[in-house]
Amino acid sequence: MELLGLIYWVLILLLTLVVGCFLLYCGFIHYQHMKYDHIPGPPRDSFFFGHSSKILEIIRNDRLVHDLFLEWTEKYGPVIRINTLHEVEILTASPEAVKEILMSSKYKKDWYYDRLFTIFGVRFMGKGLITNRDHEQWYMQRRLMDPAFSKTYLKGLMGTFNEKAEELMEKLAEKADGKCHVGMHGMICKVTLDVISKVAFGMELNSLENDQTPFPQAIATVLKAMAEMRDPFIMYSWKMRGFVKKAQESARFLRKTGRELIERRKKAIRDEEEIPEDILTQILKAADLEGGCDTEGLLDNFVTFFIAGQETTANQLAFTLIELAQHPDILEKAQAEVDEVIGAKRDLEYDDLGKLQYLSQVHQVYDVSDYYGVLGLLYDCDCCTL
Ligand code: HEM
Repeated sequence: MELLGLIYWVLILLLTLVVGCFLLYCGFIHYQHMKYDHIPGPPRDSFFFGHSSKILEIIRNDRLVHDLFLEWTEKYGPVIRINTLHEVEILTASPEAVKEILMSSKYKKDWYYDRLFTIFGVRFMGKGLITNRDHEQWYMQRRLMDPAFSKTYLKGLMGTFNEKAEELMEKLAEKADGKCHVGMHGMICKVTLDVISKVAFGMELNSLENDQTPFPQAIATVLKAMAEMRDPFIMYSWKMRGFVKKAQESARFLRKTGRELIERRKKAIRDEEEIPEDILTQILKAADLEGGCDTEGLLDNFVTFFIAGQETTANQLAFTLIELAQHPDILEKAQAEVDEVIGAKRDLEYDDLGKLQYLSQVHQVYDVSDYYGVLGLLYDCDCCTL
């Protein structure tokens, strides 16, 4: 009887604890709502799940969640609030706000960036420029990498841009028989990968010629893995274990290639050999001036440059092509400008690009991060006043 009484009281205690925790959690959700509800946003579907059921419904129906975000920003303004449990996300479609968030050190990157430190447990973008959440460390790296983002440096890359554009045109000319369908996105992905590997790391990939070689394959696999990783349980899924292993091997392979490249280049610098003036040389020279930089850090940025540079540029170009195909009047004007400014000239100079004013505007209007809104940046809003 005494034992039954004890069990009874333990159960009551446990129940009180559970109910107490539940009420505390409800209170916390309410507090979060009160804290951020001054920011406009669509009405919540439920107190607990906020807007998540609507978002999940879109994802389940294979529709674009960005269309919903666009609808919301059109209706409720350029800065809106999205709730899920106690989490509050602020979505902005305002270029001024994006600029402010990216430029100011008071906005911290969200913990979500930590997830890209590894891919299924294998070091991936590590503490590279994009994923480093520590402002001081980021700033130090950024100073080392600055030459790679300068206009003077870009000017020196025109030779490679011309060479790779010529290769693409030759490939397209081979296929242009009036019947053959060509997937332009695929072609552009290959050419951007070839350009980045050459201008950044002096590596001739030739994926336009053959993309079945290990490096382009590894890049394609890790990009796919980055999308799949949104599901936190994928690593434990029996069905996906083959893919997980392939992605881990790809991440290892990318870093191994980078390590070999860095070691080779360091030796060439030591031996005072002639070396290409690419991003890798700039980084190594700058790192040397700062008293050296650890190889793992350099590898993080090796991976980062490929991931940050390839898909973004390829998508931007592909979206611009789609829009030009859908707007023949704009295409005609752009074509007329190219004919007038460039004519039959094959090797473009940097200054020629500045003269293509109409084409530059077309390109800017269809910016992937602005017009298409396909780039997501996650910043922690708790650290600032909203
Ligand atoms: C149309 C093409 C591109 C778009 C739309 C784009 C967009 C962006 C955005 C939105 C960020 C900020 C990311 C964040 O903080 O989470 C970023 C950062 C970065 N991008 Fe790009 N990017 C493009 C091309 C490239 C290319 C070609 C490269 C290099 C080959 C590159 C390398 C980087 C790097 C290294 C960073 C980190 C910079 C830093 O934190 O200091 N991007 N890019």
